[in-house]
Amino acid sequence: MALHEKTIVITGAARGIGRACAVRAAEEGADVVLIDIAGDLPEIPYALGSADQLEQTAQQCRKNGASVLVATADVRSRSAVSSAITAAADRFGQIDALINNAGVGAPSGKFAHDFTDEEWHAILDVNLTGAWHVITAVAPVMVSQRSGSIVNVASTAGLVGYRHFAGYCASKHGLIGLTKAAALDYAPLNIRVNALCPGPVRDDPAVDGQMTSVVADALGISYEEQEAVYLESVATDSLVDPADVAGAAIWLAGDDSRKVTGTVVPVDAGFSAR
Ligand SMILES: NC(=O)c1ccc[n+]([C@@H]2O[C@H](COP(=O)([O-])OP(=O)(O)OC[C@H]3O[C@@H](n4cnc5c(N)ncnc54)[C@H](O)[C@@H]3O)[C@@H](O)[C@H]2O)c1
Repeated sequence: MALHEKTIVITGAARGIGRACAVRAAEEGADVVLIDIAGDLPEIPYALGSADQLEQTAQQCRKNGASVLVATADVRSRSAVSSAITAAADRFGQIDALINNAGVGAPSGKFAHDFTDEEWHAILDVNLTGAWHVITAVAPVMVSQRSGSIVNVASTAGLVGYRHFAGYCASKHGLIGLTKAAALDYAPLNIRVNALCPGPVRDDPAVDGQMTSVVADALGISYEEQEAVYLESVATDSLVDPADVAGAAIWLAGDDSRKVTGTVVPVDAGFSAR
């Protein structure tokens, strides 16, 4: 088991890619710290993960033998994140990896100049500043251990532009920059930092996935139309599954990738090969 006796923190763990990562980490022998806002935000135009969904993730992890700590925290709040990570370090005595996954796909669906200040800050605050908040809380624990792996879940929207997704693209490009700089900061301390770039991910009901629906709603088209656009953009004949992203995240979190740091790993069904 790739993560035997390790403690892994996963943000955005209530559903989707976060749930897939958490369950896979548990299957690989890890104890898990599941962080999610578990509630909605007025600035975000769709329902975020719920307390019930977070509990479902926890139950699936426990079924796989993991010890689980559940923490409700908004990654925009440095103090809430700090409390969750302090509780995790107290409970498990170590944090071996962070899967920094919490993120939002909207407000989107408009020209760059049409974003209001509130919309712009909403997406940047969660996807970029939020991810930085989690790093600020986890890094001191890893520095004192002289070991750790941080996996920032960016996107192919961190590699190229997507029309009418300026805020999202800016946040994910920023996250990749943060990844590279932090990798250089922490390399001498045996802490690795990498970015994962999921490409078009199917809304898998098994993990309550819904990001492709969020993208379709932002663009005012149906799920089927968005799926067809995505299928056209990839090299394979099917979209990425949350489980595919989880497989790469677990590899980056564990020791098999011990010489891998500062990299940007697409899991995108060939999207970025074009
Ligand atoms: N699904 C895709 O197609 C896709 C593609 C590329 C990248 N990504 C990235 O993968 C990550 C996960 O996406 P997903 O598809 O699983 O989305 P999702 O909406 O299904 O899950 C995201 C989770 O993050 C939580 N979250 C959102 N804002 C939060 C906050 N402020 N504080 C704490 N938790 C918060 C939500 O409650 C939810 O449980 C995101 O960073 C997303 O940008 C997704």
